[in-house]
Amino acid sequence: MVMLLVNKTMQINYTCNKTNNDITLVPVTIGDIDFLYHLKSEEQSIYWSGYSKAPKYENLSKHYQDCINKKTKVILIIKFNGESAGVISFVIKDVLTCTDYGINISSKFSGQKVGFQSINKCFEYLKLNNPSVKSIDAFIAENNKRSQNIFTKSGFILTTNYKYMDLKPSSKLVSIRFYKWIKYL
Ligand SMILES: CC(C)(COP(=O)(O)OP(=O)(O)OC[C@H]1O[C@@H](n2cnc3c(N)ncnc32)[C@H](O)[C@@H]1OP(=O)(O)O)[C@@H](O)C(=O)NCCC(=O)NCCS
Repeated sequence: MVMLLVNKTMQINYTCNKTNNDITLVPVTIGDIDFLYHLKSEEQSIYWSGYSKAPKYENLSKHYQDCINKKTKVILIIKFNGESAGVISFVIKDVLTCTDYGINISSKFSGQKVGFQSINKCFEYLKLNNPSVKSIDAFIAENNKRSQNIFTKSGFILTTNYKYMDLKPSSKLVSIRFYKWIKYL
């Protein structure tokens, strides 16, 4: 039996007869900034966001405090069996469109389908909190095969729309195409 529980902060929580791979999405708070700092300092997070080194704590902290206070972005902490495992963020551009969608899972949880399950849980979050949203778009690097894999499996469609962004493998700067992927809800 599957039970849907929704609390006051619209946290989505599925209890499935005591499984050991429980994923919940929890709106970010100031208390999550340390976790986000460690996540964004991981090698793969730095690389796929186009930076060459880990962020400065003060700058990252200010960024998230602004997001939280000004509500410019929806930021959801991914909890895996109660432990912070990653983050999903996006912008509700208008009543129909969710844009700038991104996901980042700590390498500690890699390969356990946390990413795939979180994207699918996020569809449910949107249905509950932004039921008029009809599409989600994300830009994904053409060489980010792992990410493409979970977005494809989650029903996102690759479009021909792209923009160039710089990724920095070691000290070299490489321009990479980031293609737009769309999911219709
Ligand atoms: C991309 C990311 C979210 C994936 O999260 P994850 O929890 O490790 O992913 P999952 O375990 O759900 O699934 C990974 C899938 O990719 C596959 N995969 C892993 N490495 C791969 C590769 N090099 N090429 C193709 N597929 C690959 C796995 O086999 C798995 O597929 P399967 O379930 O069919 O076996 C995570 O690696 C991450 O945060 N990366 C850094 C940030 C980023 O790239 N974000 C995406 C931009 S929006």
